[in-house]
Amino acid sequence: MAYSTPKLSTIITWLLYFVPVYIFVLDPLLRPYFPDSASSSLSWGEDQDRHVLEEWDTSPSTLHLTDDSFISPDDGVPDNCPGEAEGYRVHLLSQAPLVLYIENFVSAAEADHLVEISLNKYTPSIIYNGKTQQIDPSKRLSDRALLDRDDTVRCLENRARTFQGWRPHLYIERMWAQRYNASGHYRHHYDWTGSLARGGDRLSTFMVYLGDECEGGGTNFPRLGMPGGREWCRFLECEEDEQGTVKEGITFKPIKGNAIFWENLRPDGTGYPETWHAAYPVTSGTKVGLNIWSWYQPPKRNRGGGR
Ligand SMILES: *[C@@H]1O[C@H](CO)[C@@H](O)[C@H](O)[C@H]1NC(C)=O
Repeated sequence: MAYSTPKLSTIITWLLYFVPVYIFVLDPLLRPYFPDSASSSLSWGEDQDRHVLEEWDTSPSTLHLTDDSFISPDDGVPDNCPGEAEGYRVHLLSQAPLVLYIENFVSAAEADHLVEISLNKYTPSIIYNGKTQQIDPSKRLSDRALLDRDDTVRCLENRARTFQGWRPHLYIERMWAQRYNASGHYRHHYDWTGSLARGGDRLSTFMVYLGDECEGGGTNFPRLGMPGGREWCRFLECEEDEQGTVKEGITFKPIKGNAIFWENLRPDGTGYPETWHAAYPVTSGTKVGLNIWSWYQPPKRNRGGGR
């Protein structure tokens, strides 16, 4: 044997030199070349999902979570909740991703009020495509209205925050009502973008039905499975269609006052592919929905290596 085994004491001496050299010299030197695991896990997921940005309506390069035209900051205006209901009932549909169904999330009086304040504010809904916002009726056909932060809207902001346990670093996006006439629809898309590492992403979505005087217009999640209980048929389409085919995944019926709540992001900040969803075409009448999106902006110290 050409080599003799190094003595244990020699190995320990090497380690005592190497550890500080690694911590103070090698690691800082190598860091710029290897982005830390936190930010790399926040990048885009599967290839098939890359077109998500095209169907999203806010440009990630224009994220300003301090901009009150975009989020609803807590400005200390006291609560006054006219027409608030006694309470809501929550049913668990899925644990990962978390999907909850909320009966009576807004009262009939609140829903009617929100529809009324939206009426003279509608403009065609846009989608975000690469660098520009555009109207594309093949992907999304509806009108949307930015709601003023009146008492009812502020109550809903608080209800949404309270529902999520007053989670820190969570910002409620300004609320938009969405109106779908006959043939109005929104093709499958995600509400998240994978932009958490760049400053924020939509952690959760409340999809609230404000007006249900329509046929069709269900909210479809092709990647979620039908829950077992027949009780769900009150809220989900259980019937086959005229051709005898059952639609893919699950489809929520529009029911005024009720809401679907889901989390878009895993605890590590990556998006759930299961949250892929669509608004099926309204075949007659009008559907009015309300999106309540909660943004999560991680505290600065957790964001990628000091850039
Ligand atoms: C929906 O109907 C309203 C009222 O008739 C109309 O003003 C609006 O332009 C329609 N929107 C779309 C997208 O067809």
